[in-house]
Amino acid sequence: RNSSHNSYNEKADSLNESMAEKLSRLSQKSLDSRTRSDPNSRPVGLKKSIGLFSGVALIVGTMIGSGIFISPTGVTENSGSVGLSLILWLIGGIISLLGAMSYAELGTTIRKSGGEYSYLLSAFGPLNKHVGNIPAFLFAWVNMMLLKPASVAIITLTFATYCMQPFYDVCSPPASAKRMLAILCVLIILLINSVSIKVATWIQNIFTVTKLVAVVIIVFTGFVLMGMGYTQYISTGFSGTATSAGSIAVAIYHSMWAYDGWNNLNYVTEEVIDYHRNLPRAILIAVPLVTVCYLFMNLSYFTMMSVKELIQSPAVAVTWGNRTLGVMSWLIPLFVACSTFGAANGTLFSSGRLNYVAAREGHMLKLLAMVQVKTCSPMPSLIFTCLLAIIFIIPGDISSLIDFFSFAVWLFYGLTMVALIIIRLKLKPEKTDDTFKVPIIIPFIVLVVSLFLVVAPIIDKPRIEYLYAFLFIIGGLIFYIPFVHFKKELPGMEKFNAFFSLLLDSELPHREET
Ligand code: ARG
Repeated sequence: RNSSHNSYNEKADSLNESMAEKLSRLSQKSLDSRTRSDPNSRPVGLKKSIGLFSGVALIVGTMIGSGIFISPTGVTENSGSVGLSLILWLIGGIISLLGAMSYAELGTTIRKSGGEYSYLLSAFGPLNKHVGNIPAFLFAWVNMMLLKPASVAIITLTFATYCMQPFYDVCSPPASAKRMLAILCVLIILLINSVSIKVATWIQNIFTVTKLVAVVIIVFTGFVLMGMGYTQYISTGFSGTATSAGSIAVAIYHSMWAYDGWNNLNYVTEEVIDYHRNLPRAILIAVPLVTVCYLFMNLSYFTMMSVKELIQSPAVAVTWGNRTLGVMSWLIPLFVACSTFGAANGTLFSSGRLNYVAAREGHMLKLLAMVQVKTCSPMPSLIFTCLLAIIFIIPGDISSLIDFFSFAVWLFYGLTMVALIIIRLKLKPEKTDDTFKVPIIIPFIVLVVSLFLVVAPIIDKPRIEYLYAFLFIIGGLIFYIPFVHFKKELPGMEKFNAFFSLLLDSELPHREET
């Protein structure tokens, strides 16, 4: 019996050995074929599949998410009056438009996906070979690790809240159920985005149309109500207007969250068909459209709510719906759920591209630059963002993240304007007929605005969290110095890349589409 046991062990050992050999052979083979082989056998990268309509949908569908249904509270609270809050919503739209126009120039001059990352790299990279790449790297670092996953988390949590709202009339839905639903939403958009880019853009288009229907309902009802004489709140005009620069900046911050997403198409430039025409066009259609929608929606809210009531409402659109739509008031939570779902989809779509481009430049794990062989989607990078988003969803309290979101985001928008100014004045790219040019004053205006937005709240109400946010940004250098600057590789990294490349059936694309 003993001997049979022994021989069994021997057999098992030899089996293990051959398994180990096989695995090592396999990983060697996959390494060879996936990282060093003949480039022509690899997939070509992301395909061009976004036309003008999808481009507009990618911007409008990300801008209109949760913000316009909730943020009016924050804007009104800090502005103090109907008049000023409407003006601030208008200003928010104008700032977004000026920013987006500058991005249209950047997008048609530097024809790479990845948004700010690619622009910062092109502008600062050539200036100094030691530190020039740092701004772009830090942008990618903060966005990959924090901002993009946090946006997905915030938006999907809002999605979950509104999905459950109709079922919990009086009490609020249980937190754990809400988180589970948010996670489910993340997994669904991950599936959609990894399975097919066509389906992802298609979903984006459908949900954008749905949310525009919601907007039209709210705006139209507002006009009808004004016609019926519900103007008692609107006519209070500017009474109660706030005067401190800090609170005005905070008010604008709240509206800027609702407007954020105007830069979304710049993350996917390489996939836009005829991008030199469609990118500027999509921007010039989408941003003014959203601005007009937001202004009229606010006006409509004020037909039914006074400044005080609006400040106290936890969800402006729902309160408004309960007062105006009667038995149809369930429509509003449904629309908000659809709207947030679309915005989450658009956010994931673009953030997948950011990781992908940063990895392609050697600033992130090689794995993240791989593309799924059959679907041509940047699957490893999409999974990465979703995993982090789920980690943010679990503690669930991310309301303070929105404040720091705007802080960090505007820091980089400002820096990107500097990049545009450097590119225009110093690097002087060859002028071709198809680059979109903005008057040089525009990036300067956006730069000043971004400085105001970053500095004013710190001076007005200094909070330790701004320091944390800043330290986190700088903290990226801990990774930059060894892994990017000195090009150190962690032991086992090649095997790690090979394993996941096999698992996800993803490979490095052999040529960049520009
Ligand atoms: N504006 C969107 C909303 O109101 C949030 C956009 C988040 N930012 C982004 N780049 N996806 O929900």
